[in-house]
Amino acid sequence: MILPVIMAGGAGSRLWPMSRQMFPKQFLSLSGDSSMLQSTAMRLQGIEHAPAMVICNEEHRFSVAEQFRANKIPNSGIILEPVGRNTAPAIALAALMAVRNNNDPLLLVLAADHLIKNEQAFRQSVKTATEFAQAGKLVTFGIVPTAPETGYGYIKRGETCGNGEGYCVAEFVEKPNLITAQTYLDNKNYYWNSGMFLFKASRYLDELKTHCPEIYAACEQAISNTAQDLDFLRVDKAAFEACPDNSIDYAVMEPLCSTKGSDKVVVVPMDCGWSDVGSWSALWEVKDKDSNGNAFQGDVISIDTSNSYVHATDKLVATIGLEDVIIVETKDAILVSKQTEVQQVKKIVEQLKENR
Ligand code: GDD
Ligand code: MG
Repeated sequence: MILPVIMAGGAGSRLWPMSRQMFPKQFLSLSGDSSMLQSTAMRLQGIEHAPAMVICNEEHRFSVAEQFRANKIPNSGIILEPVGRNTAPAIALAALMAVRNNNDPLLLVLAADHLIKNEQAFRQSVKTATEFAQAGKLVTFGIVPTAPETGYGYIKRGETCGNGEGYCVAEFVEKPNLITAQTYLDNKNYYWNSGMFLFKASRYLDELKTHCPEIYAACEQAISNTAQDLDFLRVDKAAFEACPDNSIDYAVMEPLCSTKGSDKVVVVPMDCGWSDVGSWSALWEVKDKDSNGNAFQGDVISIDTSNSYVHATDKLVATIGLEDVIIVETKDAILVSKQTEVQQVKKIVEQLKENR
């Protein structure tokens, strides 16, 4: 049985001013009515699975619970982290809980903040991956890269394996520098790591124990003392605070594959119109656009405007004579940026934290 584990603990500060500390990216509706968290759970329909387990920061517990309740989506529990320790510990908590409750299910680890246009292709890749995961492999899902992005992991495919729809992993490199990312893009044998995984809970725990025993030990202690309150599962605060901070990519996938590769890891390609919506321009890229290359959300009027994204929440926004801009209007803040500079929103958020 597949047990989806939805990681919903990220901050997503690059989508300010829509995303805020108390309301990060995964809770926003950026495309259609559902939030990214709700869409993550709903696109599982069509895959046989147990209700999803969610893992998030304690301060977001009511947003998570409310979004599941509003869409009538059942869950297998919402694990609350007292502090963020990144994805390796988050997945470890879910895996330890799963092994305790469910006798070693396949964990389908999902980020809560991705857009996927072709849900059928997503489900098909998960089905393909199931056979590999049941055989004990750690499966990653590979996206064909379109740019030398430095914020992603890169997976080099090796020989085909199993039914021929997956590849052994020849190399896994998390967040390479620009020059390296460009060589991977040119090479054509590399995928972006989508940040989704499928593996037996016990297999992840085995590898974590080998490559990062401190994280394993801290999480085992944190889960051994859990308090349940409705759907919420609170782990031991002191034990989890003492856990090292690291992502699954650096803590497990990179050391497991290193530069020699590993036959324990399989990459299954996923051609599903994926975006991790890491910026407003990334959202503009995946949106349907008008004949001038604009994507508008909310009440927007424009004259002589092209290649722009305008997001109106509270007011009518009118633009004249603009090109390649991002405008995001909310009740208490307005962002106006060149498309090419929009990654600098992170700096605005840092300044706001320092000064206000
Ligand atoms: N519960 C929990 N706790 N969730 C977390 C935590 C945490 O401490 N930190 C991050 N998450 C969630 C985020 O909400 C997001 O859904 C997912 O885990 C991935 O975290 P990011 O912080 O967004 O990772 P990234 O974008 O830098 O890199 C990962 O994703 C890329 C694709 O989007 C890596 O897996 C890369 O290799 C990958 O290419
Ligand atoms: Mg991300």
